[in-house]
Amino acid sequence: MHPPSTQTRTCRPSRSELSPVLALAANFDPNQISTKREISAAAINVSGRQRMLSQRTALLSLRLVCNQDRAEQEKLRHQLLLDIDLMETSHNGLLNGDEKMKLSGHLSEALLAMYFEPPFNLDREIRNYIAQVRALAQASTTELTQDNPHLRYIQDAASTQLLIALDAVVNQYQKDNEAQQLALDIDRAELYCQSCAATAAAKVQAEKLEKALQELKQTQAQLIHSERISSLGQLVASLAHEINNPVSFVHGNLSFANTYVQHLLELVRVYDEQYPQPNRAIQEKIEEIDLEFLSQDLPQVLSSMTVGIDRICQIVRSLRSFSRIDENEMKPVNLHDGIDSTLLILQNRFKAKNNRPGIEVIKEYGNLPLVECYAGQINQVLMNAIANAIDAIEDRIDQGSCFNPKIEIVTAVVGQSALIRIADNGIGMTEEVRSRLFDSFFTTKPLGKGTGLGLSISYQIVVEKHGGALWCESTPGQGTEFKIEIPLRQGVRAQTTLVSTASPLVWAVSDENPNILDKEVKGKKLLF
Ligand SMILES: Nc1ncnc2c1ncn2[C@@H]1O[C@H](COP(=O)(O)OP(=O)(O)OP(=O)(O)O)[C@@H](O)[C@H]1O
Ligand SMILES: [Mg+2]
Repeated sequence: MHPPSTQTRTCRPSRSELSPVLALAANFDPNQISTKREISAAAINVSGRQRMLSQRTALLSLRLVCNQDRAEQEKLRHQLLLDIDLMETSHNGLLNGDEKMKLSGHLSEALLAMYFEPPFNLDREIRNYIAQVRALAQASTTELTQDNPHLRYIQDAASTQLLIALDAVVNQYQKDNEAQQLALDIDRAELYCQSCAATAAAKVQAEKLEKALQELKQTQAQLIHSERISSLGQLVASLAHEINNPVSFVHGNLSFANTYVQHLLELVRVYDEQYPQPNRAIQEKIEEIDLEFLSQDLPQVLSSMTVGIDRICQIVRSLRSFSRIDENEMKPVNLHDGIDSTLLILQNRFKAKNNRPGIEVIKEYGNLPLVECYAGQINQVLMNAIANAIDAIEDRIDQGSCFNPKIEIVTAVVGQSALIRIADNGIGMTEEVRSRLFDSFFTTKPLGKGTGLGLSISYQIVVEKHGGALWCESTPGQGTEFKIEIPLRQGVRAQTTLVSTASPLVWAVSDENPNILDKEVKGKKLLF
């Protein structure tokens, strides 16, 4: 029941182990405890001394009566008076308290009964005894005989009723002391238990708060991200919609225009055949417009316009497919369409710029079936991974490194999942960056360029919403490869079959298969 002693420990106790002890100390005033102990010990001592004084005074009384030497008698009288004074002071101290002797004067019920009630009536016994001893000590020499009544009283009391009463009182002081100590110990033990319970409750509370904080952070991140994504999606969708109408109009009419132009050119040819000698005004016009060149070039102009409008239609289709804001359910989706539309949207970022060559995009598409997923969300994952790859390449170029920038996108079916591998030869990442990759708001990019939400949201989309897995392999200064695994059908969760063992910077995350060489790092399951 006692709190653990810090002295018996072989190692330093932890803060949490100490906290109940600290709480206990806060509730217990050690000075108060030791004062209580001292008072208790003093009462036992003084009551014991009373017993001793009663025996000594009885002996001195006998010696006084038996001694014939006057000088010796005086000495004994003096000693007797000193002892009996001390006995009286001690007695008063025990009953009324005495600061010098550290006596409180607080008596238990049992002690009060012993002092003032039969069978002991100790107060009366002691005072009578003191009076008798004083009387003997002050008696004339002639009165100092063996049958002196004071002496007889003293001898009798000291060996019977006074002795019995004093013994009982000393015992009672000891019992009271033990009871007091026990009560103190129980109090302390109860307080200790309360402190432990309070500490445990505080710990649980702190854990709850920590969890709530994490959830709040995640929700905040998700809100910001979904706000960003939904505004981007809406913007793209409305742009695609706005462009789509006039473009379809042009696209639809272009084939008529082509036919009409063919007809008109045919008419001109027929005119030319029927009237080989046109008049002067017609002749001048034919030369002015260079009819021969126009007739040859116009069909080509029209066909290049058709190619252009077809391209615009394709871009509009990609934009619509990318945004997919109308799709709230999982649907079988062609992932290659998602990759292509993402590449198209990012097309401008692949082009050569003043300070850098163009980024080569190498696509190696496998034979993927339709994959059951939220297409819009998967597109966001792809968008973030490819944009990160471009950023990493630009960072490496900014460092003055000379290389042929490229991004490889490979797809394949692995087991029951589709695997998309996006590899870049950009700046790569350090161990420190790698370990925090999926933390919300973690970014190494300057303010305004990155929010640090891309990968944390990607994790939620791929791992939590689709039951897939994400891997990242990276070598600082050389590049990074992300692997995204999505189950072909929901209900068949990712198998995480492609765990690489080559690089120390390989890691993967999967909610389903935490046991593949699982290692807990900062609460995340990292698979090596
Ligand atoms: N391909 C990569 N090469 C090197 N570092 C990368 C790569 N992808 C991600 N990182 C690192 O991981 C960090 C977090 O990426 P994440 O996509 O979560 O956020 P972000 O790109 O910084 O910002 P956001 O995606 O919100 O615009 C990046 O800041 C970068 O340091
Ligand atoms: Mg990003």
